[in-house]
Amino acid sequence: MGFNPWNAFHEFFTEKDAFETIDYLVSSGLVEAGYTYFNLDDGWMMPRDGDSALQPNLTMYPSGIKGIADYAHSKGLKVGIYSSAGTNTCKGFPASLGYEDQDAKMWAEWGVDLVKYDNCYSAASDKSIKERYEAMRDAILASGRPMVFAVCEWGLSEPWVYGQSVGHMWRTTKDISLDIAATWPGILENLDSTARLARYAGPGGWNDADMLEVGPPGNAKLTLAEQRAHFALWAVIKSPLIIGADLKLLKPSELKILKAKEVIAINQDPLGVAGDLVWKQGPEEVWAAPLQGGGRAVVLFNRQMAAEGVTSRELTVHWHQIGYEPGIQVKVRDLYKGKDLGEFTGHFKGTVINHGALILRLTPTEAHESHERWRPWPCSSDPSHGSQGAYACPSNALMQRSESVLKQADVPSSTYGFAGYILTSVGGVFLGLMVGLSPLRGVLGRWVRGRQYRELHSPHALALSDRV
Ligand code: GLA
Repeated sequence: MGFNPWNAFHEFFTEKDAFETIDYLVSSGLVEAGYTYFNLDDGWMMPRDGDSALQPNLTMYPSGIKGIADYAHSKGLKVGIYSSAGTNTCKGFPASLGYEDQDAKMWAEWGVDLVKYDNCYSAASDKSIKERYEAMRDAILASGRPMVFAVCEWGLSEPWVYGQSVGHMWRTTKDISLDIAATWPGILENLDSTARLARYAGPGGWNDADMLEVGPPGNAKLTLAEQRAHFALWAVIKSPLIIGADLKLLKPSELKILKAKEVIAINQDPLGVAGDLVWKQGPEEVWAAPLQGGGRAVVLFNRQMAAEGVTSRELTVHWHQIGYEPGIQVKVRDLYKGKDLGEFTGHFKGTVINHGALILRLTPTEAHESHERWRPWPCSSDPSHGSQGAYACPSNALMQRSESVLKQADVPSSTYGFAGYILTSVGGVFLGLMVGLSPLRGVLGRWVRGRQYRELHSPHALALSDRV
């Protein structure tokens, strides 16, 4: 959790902005809420000097990056820096390809705690994306200073497959705002690019759907309801919560979203399992994650575009969709309101406005140790086969039914678009009709799910911070 200036300032973020931002992070209570990483992004550097060391732009940062790092540390914050696995950064400034060891060593001397590593201007290298990121991972390790390594290659090489062995977070997406202000379709696109990837995340490495668009400039094109839905969804998928706003222009209602304590607690839940899409029909979606102690975080999300006469929808989460036996009694709490809604059996229904989300914490009235074991992706009858994140299917038949519902829609919509969604839905009905023809079902099922099941290589290689 932290702050990054890119969305709001691009390469024009100065030392004055940096000091003001650090002060505001402290005085607003955001640091206390958990936003402890103060990051710089593109534009801080100048051409290398005679010793081939990257130079900070001293006109923009008269105290140097070391001065900013010292100030941030004195206020209880950590500091992030930015570079690229190419000859230049995306804005054309000098970058780190071929200078990994020297740059990582210098950042360690400056007291840097996080490195965001981009993927621009890499044509000069014949190495794969993964190899270029491994080079910086090794340089960070050799520097001797623990630094979070944020892989930012926009999902090109499916970094979630190898991410746990290379970095602590990896962008699953394009930039959330290609222009200075994000749009609602842009938020949805990043969400969809991250759907079905929860199984690759976990303590030590997380899917990163890009920075938050809560507050300015995000608020130029997003309503307050959209910003709340965006924050709730980023919290449940356990994307690192990195504020992308100009903090001095933040409205109280936006600060309240960023500081929503019970929503942040979902993002930081100690069980460390990312949430995912568990049910979808048209614009109605249910996203869910298991929580420590056997509870669930549930987001009821209404993507309905403005339609005549329709301003809200009634959305339901059924217990079988989230790995609970239908008969159990569950306490439901609205996390933005901080209000208990009562005890329910079998399902919970809530009214959600268009482009809005309800974020809930569900807690069974009687704890059962099996409740913590559920995952928001398909289970396997043989989890020892090495499928990433595979977990043993519960014996309860109804819970297995929820898994088959998930499989029918198990293709990332960002990859196949609307046509893919239609095909997958039709495919789901077809699969339903094929009950009994198990060989054919097996082949089709493998085809649909193939891209999700990938071997993960070594366990996490960087013995550093495991929460970002
Ligand atoms: C890329 C990254 C952004 C930002 C810019 C800086 O586009 O994805 O997050 O760092 O580069 O130029």
